[in-house]
Amino acid sequence: MKLNVVNFLNKYGMNYQNLDMNLETNKFIEEMEKGLNREGGSLKMIDTYIDLKSDVTTEKEVMVMDAGGTNLRVAKVSFDKDYNVSINDLYKTSMPGVKVEVSEDEFLNALADASKNVMTNLDKLGYCFSYPAITTEDRDAKLIEWTKGIMAPSIVDKKVGAILVDKLESIDGLKREVAVLNDTVATLLGGKGVYAAREFDGFIGFIFGTGVNACYTEDSGRIYNMESGNYANLPLGTIDIEYDKTTNNPGAQLLEKMVSGRYLGEVIYLTLLKAGEEGLITETCYDKLKQIKDFELIHASLYLNDCFNAENDIVKCLSNDDDRKVIYEIIDKLVERAAKICAIKISATILKTNKGKDITKPFAIVCEGSTFFKLKDFKEKFDYYLKDYLVKEHSTYYELLSGEDLNLIGSAIAVL
Ligand code: BGC
Repeated sequence: MKLNVVNFLNKYGMNYQNLDMNLETNKFIEEMEKGLNREGGSLKMIDTYIDLKSDVTTEKEVMVMDAGGTNLRVAKVSFDKDYNVSINDLYKTSMPGVKVEVSEDEFLNALADASKNVMTNLDKLGYCFSYPAITTEDRDAKLIEWTKGIMAPSIVDKKVGAILVDKLESIDGLKREVAVLNDTVATLLGGKGVYAAREFDGFIGFIFGTGVNACYTEDSGRIYNMESGNYANLPLGTIDIEYDKTTNNPGAQLLEKMVSGRYLGEVIYLTLLKAGEEGLITETCYDKLKQIKDFELIHASLYLNDCFNAENDIVKCLSNDDDRKVIYEIIDKLVERAAKICAIKISATILKTNKGKDITKPFAIVCEGSTFFKLKDFKEKFDYYLKDYLVKEHSTYYELLSGEDLNLIGSAIAVL
């Protein structure tokens, strides 16, 4: 007998309905504690040595660099005496090591090249580095490993700030002071800065883009970068397991591979092909799906936006309305799974701090990342699970915040 979508997802362990919010949230909290107590586990819980108390110097322009999962951006940032921010000469290019492996020299040359127009006389550099790195007390950070498929192995174990400022100094002779911070931390600081007039009980910096991660303020006021993309205790489906084996870092970043922009498209594609194998869609549709090259999350998101658009690559595969519906349901349910997983880790983080109990001073979740804003229905689904669980069951209050270029602003705050 032909399976329906729910039975099909159950068979392959991919159904979000089988994720128990309470159980998974408590498991996540336990793993956070393990990481904080340095007892191992999959959450690195990196102490950033940054607290929220220090003041920001105004009327001084700094250089910022943002090495993200897909893009590399540089700009000049300053604050006037009323803390209004200016971002100038923003330049964007692609991140080195995304498509082909690069050496340390090639990597640094690409960064220096992108900085050409902003490095003039600016002796402070806020460096947003979106990869797992151990923060050192001199505000630098040592790369633990690359994620999101970046290929630049010779940078691993190096202090990413020091090698960059040495490179820049070799070009223009200027010694720069650098502060390296994770993108979640930059986003948290940026959000805190932009919403400085508001009262919040605590802050999370949440990134849902090419990769996924969150940082938060602990009781001490210190910010911890959880590196939550590496969380390994969620129930994986058969398709997650098969897919993980094909990546360049099997066994690592398991949560990230279930949800983030870099991976979710491939998980959706593999699930659609399985549905083809199982006869949930027509043979013709299955054959055409197999021909799609480089299926990405954007294809799936555009399909959810308009599954009747004849220009859409997935729509071109459909033979009838049943195909249309089955494919819609599968994509929608995998997006829902991503939203529920993100809600689990954010709920765990807030409940762990025991804050956000006063409705007038909610916990701020500062959100950034292309996937967060662009993936159809993600934000609504994410918010739904947070309300249903945190507010209804735990009387714990939160507010989702966002803003333009928060990570650039936060990087400038860190070095000022
Ligand atoms: C990295 C994190 C980063 C996140 C979001 C992950 O792959 O390990 O450091 O914060 O992506 O960019």
